[in-house]
Order: sequence, then structure tokens, then C-alpha cells
Amino acid sequence: MNAMLYRLLKRCNVGSKCCFSTLLWSLAAWILFLQVYKTLFPSSIQLPVPHTPWGKASVDVYDEPEVYQRIHNSDRTANVGKEQPVLKGQRAKTKGRSSLLVPLKNKVKDKAEEEARELAALQKLALLFPGRRFAVDPSKTSSDEHGYFYPGREWRDTDGKTIQAHGGGILYVAETRTFYWYGENKGGPTYHIGKHGTARVDVLGISCYSSKDLWTWKFEGIALRGERTDKTSDLYFTNVVERPKVVYNERTNNYVMWLHIDNGNYSKAAVGVAVSTQPEGPFDYMGSKRPHGCDSRDMTIFKDDNGDAYIIYSSVTNSELHIGMLTEDYMEVVERGMKKVLVKQHREAPALFKHRNFYYMVTSGCTGWNPNGALVHVAESVLGPWATLGDPCTGGEDEEFRAHTFFSQGSFVLPLPGLTDTFLFMADRWRPADLADSRYVWLLLKMDRPTVPRFDTEFPLNFPQCQDVSIPWVDKWKLPKGWNAPDRR
Ligand code: DGJ
Repeated sequence: MNAMLYRLLKRCNVGSKCCFSTLLWSLAAWILFLQVYKTLFPSSIQLPVPHTPWGKASVDVYDEPEVYQRIHNSDRTANVGKEQPVLKGQRAKTKGRSSLLVPLKNKVKDKAEEEARELAALQKLALLFPGRRFAVDPSKTSSDEHGYFYPGREWRDTDGKTIQAHGGGILYVAETRTFYWYGENKGGPTYHIGKHGTARVDVLGISCYSSKDLWTWKFEGIALRGERTDKTSDLYFTNVVERPKVVYNERTNNYVMWLHIDNGNYSKAAVGVAVSTQPEGPFDYMGSKRPHGCDSRDMTIFKDDNGDAYIIYSSVTNSELHIGMLTEDYMEVVERGMKKVLVKQHREAPALFKHRNFYYMVTSGCTGWNPNGALVHVAESVLGPWATLGDPCTGGEDEEFRAHTFFSQGSFVLPLPGLTDTFLFMADRWRPADLADSRYVWLLLKMDRPTVPRFDTEFPLNFPQCQDVSIPWVDKWKLPKGWNAPDRR
């Protein structure tokens, strides 16, 4: 380019009109060339090779910096636990006392610190939402990667489509050795109702996927369809339909689905029920109600070994959990005998399981789509009383990550048929900027003998035989070699 310019100038008669316009045209060509070059080869944000705060690094997630930037700008999750920078002109706080304005020379340092924090946040977000090329796609996976779970990566079904089954739960049908995964299909655009409304998507319905190995999932269709025309329907697309759970009723041979039903501003606070004669649906929607006359938001269903089934839901504006029985056909809530548990503790996303005659429940705090700390609780009876054991999340190197349930929120704990002390913990890593791209965080939950005696005075109830519950973080894991779901319950 420079040589071309030089030749042009040499040929030119200095001072002539022609030379001036040639010069102008050359300059314009040069600018144009630079613009085209910049567009074709944009300078990418240089992120250092990660030493990830989560533990062993998956080095492969820094491929879409502009996407991370977009999330960072619009997703409140980015600010979880993040120290806010001291802004220009703001009073700085030193050792608890509000003092001088930030001195000028410190501004440079602050800016550098702020940039470092931004970079750290970008790195975290990068790890939270690895790009599409890291998707777990069983239809394309090489044999040495076969069966590996990567918590937080996009996960595809047997058709290579992103799995849409959020806030879900799994039903195991022993006769056919098949797992059915039901969850919210959030595969539409995210929007907000009102300026400060929560992020939401249209109700598309409840997806159903089937699998023999918990890793390869076949889409069975929309088991309960959202409604596009009838505005009076609970399933009308502007409403809220969340956290579906399905149980099988041996007495009626029906598959019964319970789910959280709400309106766009979460003021209806009810539960809905639907029924089908086959696990993949379609389910017939039977209606909704407020259980025990109480507001009900996050919920789950627990079926005990003896066939008794219970509904557990957050109530009194999420300040406490209510537990009550379902009728024998699982189609109604038994109105009497409801118990209030974890009162004033503000827990949601309950996920129950049973181990050696004790009942355990993992819950989250209540912070919308933002992650918070998990707690595990224990009881000798489903109806309580329940005692809190603590946060089950362990591992990784980063406290902020661990203390926010690995930046996810629990939805279900699945007993793994044939394995006695290991369960599957299912959680959602919500992405409020694009709910359809929320990820699944599946990890093994382990039951161990307690390392600390349970009789200590801080523990409100004595459950000496109850186990320690832990959910250790791993970047990548596999079910035990040779594990096969048996054909008995
Ligand atoms: C937290 C709940 O657990 C989710 O199911 C969903 O209702 C969000 N809140 C909405 O903010």
C-alpha cells in the first residue's frame, strides 16, 4: 500500500490539481483498507490462560468474548458477590470510617483494580456459560468423551438440539429401565414485563426427554403444551409454569404431573395438576388451586417407598415451606395435616430424597434468578420437624462459587438405582439475559458417615445416625463404570 502511494506521488506533477485529487483518493483508499482490515480481523479481548477459580481448569471456554461482554452488561448474575468499585468523586471508606475523597494518584490504581475485577468477572462468566462449540452433544461425541457430564455446558439431545428442561425432575420407570426428564421448555426469547419485571419467556410447555443412561436424552415432545389462544387458561403463554414433577400412581396406573402455576407477576401463586396414562404424555391439564388455601410458589413432589406422596412448597411469600399429603390417586392435596417447616427461613427450590430411613431436603435461598447458597435439611418424617445440616457444596477453590451453589439453583435429587450412597443433584444455572440458554449443573451428591458427632449443642435436633451430605464440585464426571439402571425399583 505504501509503495503504491509512493509510486503515485512520484508520477505526479507536484502542485497540480491531478496530484492533489490523486492524493485524496489514495488517502481515502487507505482509510477504507484499514476499516475493512479491522472488520475482518477484530482485536479480541485478550484473556489470560485460565487458572480457574473452580478447580481443575477446562481451558477451552474463552472463545466468545463479545458474548461474555453482552452477558456482563445485562445479567445481574455478574454482580453476585462482586465488590463494587469506588467511583470517581465518591467517598472512600478506609477501615470502616468514611474519609477523604479518593486521591488522584489512587485513581489510576483503582482503575487498574477495577479492570482486573472486570476481567475476573468476565473469566467467571466465561466459565459459567461456555460457548456453543463446547456443548455436550452425544450425537457427535467421540468414544473417549462418551458419558462425560460437564456441569454448566450446553447440553444437546439425540437430535443435536439444545435440551429444554429447566427446573425439572426425573421419573424412573423400572419396567422399561427408562428415565424421563420433565422440565420447563424455555426455548423462546427472554423479555421483561414492566421496567423492573423479572426476566421471563412465553409458556411453551413442559418438555419430556427419555434416556437409558442419564446422558443420552431423546426428545419425546411437549408433554404438557402451553396455550396460545385461551386467555383464561393457566397455561396461556403470558403466565408462568414452573418446576414440573411427575410421579407414577400404582393404584390408578396414571402418571401425575404437579407444577407451579402463576401469572406474569407471580401473584396467583398456585399449583396445577395434569395426568397421563403414559410417561411421555400428552398430559391432560386438570386445573390449579392454592394448596391448603395458601400461596404457593416453588414446589416439588416427593413419593415415599410406601406409595404416600407429598407436596412441598414455598409459602407466606416464600418465608416458609409447607408440606402436605396428596390423596391416594395423587390428584388432590389433602387439606388437613399440613405442616409448616423452616419457618421464617426464606427457602425455595425444595428437592427431597430419602436415605436409610431419613429424609433429606436441599433448598436454596430466595434471590430470583440469581444464585445463592444451598442448605441441606434432615428429618425422621417427611412432615418434620426438619433440622438444618448446612451447605452441602464442597470443592473448587473459589468460595464465592461454592457459596452460591456453584452459581446454580437446585431442582431435584434423583436416587440412582443400584447405588445406595450416591444421588444425582440436578440444578439450573439460570441465565436471566437469555433464559433459553440457562444451563444444567448436574453433580453427584454423596452420603457419608458424619465426621462430627450430631449431639452437639448447636444442633437443634439429635439425629445421630443421619449422614453427612456433600455435593463436591467437579468440572467433568462420569457415572461409575458398568453402572446400569436395574429393572426393579
Ligand atoms: C426462583 C425460582 O426458584 C425459579 O423457579 C423462578 O421462579 C425464579 N425465582 C424467578 O425469578
